[in-house]
Amino acid sequence: MMVTRLHCLVVTLLHLLHTAGSVNFEVLGPTEPIVAVAGDDIILPCYLKPNISVEDMTVNWLNLDYIDERVYRYQNGRIIQENQIPSYRGRTSLFKEELWRGNTSLKLTRVQGTDEGQYKCFIKSKDWYDDVTIQVLVKAVGSRPMVSIEGHREGGMGLVCQSEGWHPEPDLVWLDSKGVSLSAGPPEKHRDLKGFYTVKQHVIVQETDTNLFICKVLQSRINEEVETEVHIPSEFFDVTTTWRLSFIVLCCLGVITVIGLVLAVYWMHKKGVQVNKLKQDQDKRNKELYHQIGFFRRV
Ligand SMILES: *[C@@H]1O[C@H](CO)[C@@H](O)[C@H](O)[C@H]1NC(C)=O
Ligand SMILES: *[C@@H]1O[C@H](CO)[C@@H](O)[C@H](O)[C@H]1NC(C)=O
Repeated sequence: MMVTRLHCLVVTLLHLLHTAGSVNFEVLGPTEPIVAVAGDDIILPCYLKPNISVEDMTVNWLNLDYIDERVYRYQNGRIIQENQIPSYRGRTSLFKEELWRGNTSLKLTRVQGTDEGQYKCFIKSKDWYDDVTIQVLVKAVGSRPMVSIEGHREGGMGLVCQSEGWHPEPDLVWLDSKGVSLSAGPPEKHRDLKGFYTVKQHVIVQETDTNLFICKVLQSRINEEVETEVHIPSEFFDVTTTWRLSFIVLCCLGVITVIGLVLAVYWMHKKGVQVNKLKQDQDKRNKELYHQIGFFRRV
């Protein structure tokens, strides 16, 4: 009984001595998410309390959404480049002049879609460590939707709309002039290497009294939307006019072809006549030559 109490006391004393000898610290950062606009440079704040130097500590910045999470590592006064997530290469830095007062904020340049996620600022000294987690949201408004006419489709007019460069993933809707949504094909979404989204959708529209159609691309989280309005001339819907147009075009093409053929035949014929004439001339000259040779032989 005595022994265990004594043991406890010793352990407690030792622990107190140990903690008194080392310096404890807290790692602090923003509690609210950081909203970053794609293309901008941002600072992810992180600092020690008390504001002691981290020059002989290890500073690790991680993105928890990656399996291999390394965004940045500072250790023994130098930057460790190995195992950095490739998409962060050349875009991250610490403020060197701030390290002595415990400021380990990370600068991230040219923000892109893949940068969104949970970041951990993890700081370790010889005998203590702490971390803070910061959320980064990336916002990118895409291009104005581009509408193309695809031609007659299943008794209507086929249109396609596309918008690029979004983050997060947007939605696309086709509307008529009254704002009523049209039933369209399945949305096609694609994410590029930098994490930006492209959205594309086909629709088949019928002729209306206005022939106005709207393609709207929206992202509710960042509260952004862009739209493009198209007017389809009513002649486009008229299959007979289209046929007539095609017929005229085909006729023109036919006439051009016939003229071409006639010219070609005429030209070949002319060439043939010339060749014949040349041949005849040559024969005539040859005959004369034979006659002369004959003449000389006879002499
Ligand atoms: C560190 O913090 C103390 C008190 O919180 C402040 O007075 C001091 O100016 C700070 N030092 C630096 C270098 O920021
Ligand atoms: C850390 O340094 C950055 C860059 O100079 C500065 O913007 C930020 O305010 C500093 N943070 C603290 C807590 O001093």
